[in-house]
Amino acid sequence: MCGIVGFVGNRSCAGILIDQLIKLEYRGYDSSGLAIIQDDAVGVTRSVGKIRELKAILDDHSPEGVLGIAHTRWATHGPPSTRNAHPHVDCTGNIAVVHNGIIENYMELKQELQSMGHIFKSDTDTEVIPHLIEQFYTGDLVAAIRQALGKLSGSYAIGVVSKYAPDILVAARKDSPLVIGIDSDEKYIASDIPALLGYTKDIIALEDGDLAILSTDKLEISKLDGQPVTRTPFQVTWDSTAAEKSGYDHFMLKEIHEEPNAVLDTLRGRLSDDSVELEEIKLSAEQIKNIDRIFMVSCGTAYYASCVGKYFAEHILGIPVDVEQASEFRYRGPVLNERSLVIGVSQSGETADTLAALRLAKSKGAATIAIVNVVGSTMSREADNILYTRAGPEICVASTKAYVSQLVALYLLGLYLGQARGTVSPAEMAVYVDGLRALPDHIAKTLETEQEVAQIAEELAGNEHCFYLGRGIDFAVGLEGALKLKEISYVHAEAYAAGEMKHGPLALITKGMPVVCMVTQDHVRDKMLSNVKEVQARGAKVFAIAKTGDPETHRVADYTVNIPAGHEMFMPVLAVVPLQLLAYYAAKHLGRDIDQPRNLAKSVTVE
Ligand code: M6R
Repeated sequence: MCGIVGFVGNRSCAGILIDQLIKLEYRGYDSSGLAIIQDDAVGVTRSVGKIRELKAILDDHSPEGVLGIAHTRWATHGPPSTRNAHPHVDCTGNIAVVHNGIIENYMELKQELQSMGHIFKSDTDTEVIPHLIEQFYTGDLVAAIRQALGKLSGSYAIGVVSKYAPDILVAARKDSPLVIGIDSDEKYIASDIPALLGYTKDIIALEDGDLAILSTDKLEISKLDGQPVTRTPFQVTWDSTAAEKSGYDHFMLKEIHEEPNAVLDTLRGRLSDDSVELEEIKLSAEQIKNIDRIFMVSCGTAYYASCVGKYFAEHILGIPVDVEQASEFRYRGPVLNERSLVIGVSQSGETADTLAALRLAKSKGAATIAIVNVVGSTMSREADNILYTRAGPEICVASTKAYVSQLVALYLLGLYLGQARGTVSPAEMAVYVDGLRALPDHIAKTLETEQEVAQIAEELAGNEHCFYLGRGIDFAVGLEGALKLKEISYVHAEAYAAGEMKHGPLALITKGMPVVCMVTQDHVRDKMLSNVKEVQARGAKVFAIAKTGDPETHRVADYTVNIPAGHEMFMPVLAVVPLQLLAYYAAKHLGRDIDQPRNLAKSVTVE
C-alpha cells in the first residue's frame, strides 16, 4: 500500500533512494517519484509505471543532493499517472511530501485550501498536506508540519523535505508503518525494513503520533505536540541477501524453496521432547484456563492459515474457535469479553483491518496474541503477546513461506494452550512434537515434485476456470491453493468443501475442467474419493494431492502428486507446496507478472 523512503547523509542519495524503492516495490508499483534537495531547492522527478521507468529518467540526469525522499504508489485516490505520483508539492514547489495512508477529510480540506487560493494539480488526498504546511508556514517548518498534521483525519506515514530547512528530513506516522534506520551520521526512513537491508541493521520503529527530525548530526523524536519521546533501537537479523532473488527467476519461487528453513526457524527453540515452550506468550495459567472462546482474525492468506488453525485448535482444546475475516469482524459487533482470546495473524503486522480488529478486541478486555512475521511491526508492538513466525522477509506479493510458517505458529500455539489447559497429554504431545520436527524434511521432499507439478500447471493454464476440493482441513488448504492461482495467474479458481458440490457448484463442471483434489485425511478419504468420481462423471479432469502409499487415490485420479505422509493434522504444510508451485508455473506459462500481480500490493495498510 505505497512505500516511502528517505535519506539524509553526506553522499549523493538518488541511487540509494531508487535502490530502496525497488526493495519496497511489492508495496505498490503503479507510479513512483522522488524529491531531492539540491542547491537549496527542491527537485522533483516522477514517472508512471514501475520504478525502472523512474530510474531510466534519472539515468539521464541524476540530481546530486544528499537529502531526499521517494515513493512507490498503489493508487487509492486518482488513477495511476505522473501527476498523481508522489512526491506532491505546495504552490511554490518549496515543500515536498511523500505519503502512505489515506487522508479521510481531504475533500473538505482541499475545498478550504482552494478557497484560500491554493492551486491543486493532482486527484490525490495527499496533496492537501504540502498545501497545509505552506498555509501554516511562518518561518518554522517543523511547527508548520505539526499544525498541518493536527488537521488530518485518517492514516499517514509521511516524509517531508523543504527548501525552508534544507538540512533536515521530517517524518511522522499515524496508523501507517514507518521505521527509521541509523548508521552514525546517515539516517533513513522507510515503510518497511527490507528497504534498509544492506544499509543498516539498527532500526527504530516509530509509534503512532510520533514526529521525527532527522539530520546528519541528530535524530529527535517527539509527539505531535512537541513532547520529546525516547524510542529504543533494535537490531534486525535479516541479512541483505534475504531481499534478493539469489538466482531464482522470481521471489515467489525463491520463497517457496525457503519453506523448509522458514519452518525450521519457526520451530527453533520452541520444542522439547514432549512440550512446547513459548516464552513470548505472557498469559498467566489462570488466564489460559479461563478462555472460553477463541477468535482468529486475519485477511487473505493469513485468513486461510487461520482456517487450518481453527481445525487444530478446536481439536486440541475443545474450545469454540471462530475464524473471521478482519474486515468483517470489526464492523459486526462481535461478543468479546475478558474470557475471549483474539489471535491476529499477519505476515506484515500492518494490515489495517487486522490491526483494527486487535485494537477492538483489546478495548473489550479480550487477551490478544499477534502471530506476525515482521519484527517491530505495529501489531507486534500493540498486541499483548507476540509470536513471531520468523519466515524472513517475504517480497513476492503472493504469500507462500509466510503461510507455512503461520500454520506452524498456529500449531505451536494450539499445543502450548492445550498443554496449559491439560487437554493434551505428554504422550500425545510427544507425537505432535515428532510430527512438527519432521516437517522441514518433508517439505524438502515435497519440493521434489516441482517438475511434475510444472507439467500439470502447463495443462491447467489453458483453462479459464479451476476448482479445488477437499474435506475438513484439506478444504482449508484448497482455499489457499485457489487464492494463489487466481492471484498470480488470473485463472478463475474457487475452492469448495467437496461435500457441497452436489448442492450447486456441480452444475459448473464441464468437460475437461481441471479440479484439484486434496486427499490427505484418512478418516474422510472414501467420501473424498466418491466426490472425485462425481466430478469425473461430469467430465472433470482430476489432479489429486495424496499421501505416498495411497494406491486408491492414484487409481481413481487422472493424475496424482505424491507427498510424504506426515502427521495428519500437519498435512496442510505439505499439501500447500504443490498448490503454490502449480500457481507459480501456471502464471509463468501465461507470462504473468508473478511477483507483482496486477491491482495488488503486498501490505494492505488502508481499509
Ligand atoms: O500482511 P498480512 O498477512 O496481514 O496480509 C494479508 C493479506 O493481504 C495477504 O495474505 C494477501 O492475501 C496475499 N497477497 C496473499 O497471497
